[in-house]
Amino acid sequence: MWLWSARRGFDSLLSPFGEDEKMIKIELRRLKLSDAEALREVAKDKEVTEKLEGFPYPYKLSDAKSYIEESENNPNKYEFAILSGGKLVGAIVLENPDESKKSYEVGYFVSKDNWGKGIATEALKEIVKLGFNKLKIERIWGGVDNDNKASARVLENAGFGLEKELKDSSIYGRIK
Ligand SMILES: CC(C)(COP(=O)(O)OP(=O)(O)OC[C@H]1O[C@@H](n2cnc3c(N)ncnc32)[C@H](O)[C@@H]1OP(=O)(O)O)[C@@H](O)C(=O)NCCC(=O)NCCS
Repeated sequence: MWLWSARRGFDSLLSPFGEDEKMIKIELRRLKLSDAEALREVAKDKEVTEKLEGFPYPYKLSDAKSYIEESENNPNKYEFAILSGGKLVGAIVLENPDESKKSYEVGYFVSKDNWGKGIATEALKEIVKLGFNKLKIERIWGGVDNDNKASARVLENAGFGLEKELKDSSIYGRIK
């Protein structure tokens, strides 16, 4: 089982013990069928699903189950639950590899009540490490609608650069 963790914080706020309450700690582990109810809860808000291809609204438990089953059975997908405080707060995936399987697209979402805490940024940084170091991927890219400024910031925060501007969206990429 993949288990990855990350910490986000502000150096100036570090306590003498090297820990701080303002730090966000996240973990990544493979998404599994028993996560279906938690995933449905995360994807229940229209503001979350409207940015995601193939996510219906309202998002039902059966939608979450079939999504997870497809992820588990798709050899071209590495799908992770994002955990914060042990609770599933989002998901992040590497998918759609090129023929050489060296380049993957990344996708992610976080529950609305957890937006703005740095969770997606930390999850993206961790999946980049995992992809480059363990999965031997050499390029990761993400496509963002032009009105999705938060997602563009997440990619920039995690060291992705603007590769291409299309009519309604932009492609960001990061090379190993
Ligand atoms: C995009 C999404 C994953 C971000 O998750 P998150 O955990 O809130 O992201 P973070 O807290 O790590 O970072 C959010 C960044 O966006 C910025 N941001 C948030 N809303 C913004 C807005 N309306 N305009 C500009 N920037 C915005 C924040 O300030 C932050 O940037 P900063 O760290 O430079 O201050 C979340 O909004 C989401 O799930 N959206 C719906 C699904 C989606 O769009 N997925 C991506 C598809 S490409």
